[in-house]
Amino acid sequence: MSKPKILVARAVFPEVIARLEQHFEVEANQADDSWPKAELIARLQGKDGAFTTGGDRIDAEVLAACPQLKICANMAVGYNNFDLDAMTAAGVLATNAPDVLTETTADFGFALLMATARRITESEHYLRAGRWTKWSYDMFAGSDIHGSTLGVLGMGRIGQGIAKRGAHGFGMKVIYHNRSRLDAALEAECKASYVSKEELLKTADHVVLVLPYSPASHHTIGAAELALMKPSATLVNIARGGIVDDAALAAALRDKRIAAAGLDVFEGEPMVHPDLLAVSNVVLTPHIASASLPTRLAMASLAAANLIAFFNDKRPLTPLNTAVLAIK
Ligand code: GLV
Repeated sequence: MSKPKILVARAVFPEVIARLEQHFEVEANQADDSWPKAELIARLQGKDGAFTTGGDRIDAEVLAACPQLKICANMAVGYNNFDLDAMTAAGVLATNAPDVLTETTADFGFALLMATARRITESEHYLRAGRWTKWSYDMFAGSDIHGSTLGVLGMGRIGQGIAKRGAHGFGMKVIYHNRSRLDAALEAECKASYVSKEELLKTADHVVLVLPYSPASHHTIGAAELALMKPSATLVNIARGGIVDDAALAAALRDKRIAAAGLDVFEGEPMVHPDLLAVSNVVLTPHIASASLPTRLAMASLAAANLIAFFNDKRPLTPLNTAVLAIK
């Protein structure tokens, strides 16, 4: 029997490609070319499955052009690159890569928070530019992490990881807001108190965004929300571009309406709003929150395992639209 055909849309670990080749006829992209939509469609035509990353948009147009497609396995926990309704309507299974990246991403959220509050990258640029000529009492004086109030917006697995690091590691008071409140046991584990979004923005010293992107969360933080924050507060976004209005944030940073921001994700990335590049009180990283080598390998392996399990016995590990499985 011939093997199912799959497309791996971006370069991945060679050992993952080798594993996929044991089960599938694989078209890979180890040159890591960026394919325009028309090329993605052309390459997906005739494929039974796809290994995708968060930048590969699978929507109604792609699905209509690729009727043979049965599954797209995302190497990301976020899946806003999938039009899930269209995939379900087309009978195409979607899977993501949750859990394996939780602790690594929470570590990074904390690293970005610390770099932002303690002005680490800004001070390094100053030093490298040869501008450090003497000590001064307020040179790069930032804000404290320990003992401050951490506001976590979006309290899923990664948000909980950040809350625990803050509460248990740094003695922070943790407040959170989420679509639904955690049960009492989880709140106690995270030492976190539930508050409204408005209270969180008004009272937190450090706000960390960890909520999924959807049209409903578009510009969750815009000019009005930034205006609620303390002038001494910091904002960290490790969630998704589009959750923050980047132009409004750049203006708030420029006018020192908040102290600083740390951003790993951007509207329209890999483009970055030029106004953000023009302000010094922002730490900018290129969407690397899950990027430890073991975690990226675990994410790729989970995406591959989803493809293998789906074609073996229709029991993928982390399906998103299980309704599709019922009709397969
Ligand atoms: C990364 O952004 C992910 O969603 O895994």
